[in-house]
Amino acid sequence: MQLRHFIDTQDFTKQELLDIIELTRLIKAADKQGCTPKLLEGASLAMIFEEPSTRTRVSFEVAMTELGGHALYLKPGEIHLGVRESMHDTAKVLSRMCDAIFCRALKHQTVTELARYAEVPVINGLTDYNHPTQVVCDVLTMMEHMPPGKRLEDLHVTFIGDATNVLSSLMLITTRLGMHFTHAAPKKYQPPAEWIAWAEANCRESGGTLTITEDPIEAVREADFIYTDLWWWVGQEDQIPERRAAFMPRYQVNLELFQKAPSHCKFMHCLPASRGVEATDDVMDHPRSIIFDQSENRLHTEKGLLVYLLHHRLPRPSEELKAYHKGKIEAFLHSLSV
Ligand code: CP
Repeated sequence: MQLRHFIDTQDFTKQELLDIIELTRLIKAADKQGCTPKLLEGASLAMIFEEPSTRTRVSFEVAMTELGGHALYLKPGEIHLGVRESMHDTAKVLSRMCDAIFCRALKHQTVTELARYAEVPVINGLTDYNHPTQVVCDVLTMMEHMPPGKRLEDLHVTFIGDATNVLSSLMLITTRLGMHFTHAAPKKYQPPAEWIAWAEANCRESGGTLTITEDPIEAVREADFIYTDLWWWVGQEDQIPERRAAFMPRYQVNLELFQKAPSHCKFMHCLPASRGVEATDDVMDHPRSIIFDQSENRLHTEKGLLVYLLHHRLPRPSEELKAYHKGKIEAFLHSLSV
């Protein structure tokens, strides 16, 4: 059975990413009619978190439950992870007990190390480099809010703000899918050359385009979707004054900037948000804000991803085989004198 990890959308072709999204759409349609099939019955997902999470933690846990499986929340410091036990041994042990391993890690290398040794799929739930499960959900959400007459390859997606892990994944998935991606930020907060080179290579293959600019007004001129993320994260508290000065007010997504975009443009944010910082309440709560559709789609996308990675790997014993083993165990229990 083929072992695929989900660590970077760059490891997947355009068709494979579209297949995951189509599978997600089918499962979501079933869910909306109360018919989610138990496609992962009996499966277990170990969920390692080195950082807090609301959406990712809840969506993966609910997804596993609704698909007939089970998720274990392993909170920061709860298991040995490279301390008191090697990553190799942790990966081997979890692989013997669970059908997949999820990891939200401080360092990307933690996830790649786990994947190196794991014998079950490893899913990246956010690292200092990227956030691939978030952006599959984002593309699904964009498809659901596609302007009339446009195809996926016609969409213009503009990200305003810091070159975060979400920016990296969004830039890479949109360019891989042949979309038009623009990032507006001060020079110091634009993506590293390596990420740009990967996105440009995607564009050459897919026909997509990549624009990096310091001008947020020019960046939103053709935008079908404006996306932003936090300007600072845990561990960057000492940089808050410098970052605030660099982004505010020019790169804040406020009503004035939102109104410079086409009148059909939708607003997106992966959340959590610092309301009044990277985006104002009147944009966050605007009729064309789709931030909570995005959040809900995390749940549907996790189901699609989990089924894509795990369904073909689960054992499918016949009813006869199940009855045979049950009978043997029950006969043994009857033979006991207790
Ligand atoms: N967007 C996202 O990953 O949210 P959480 O940090 O709450 O999981």
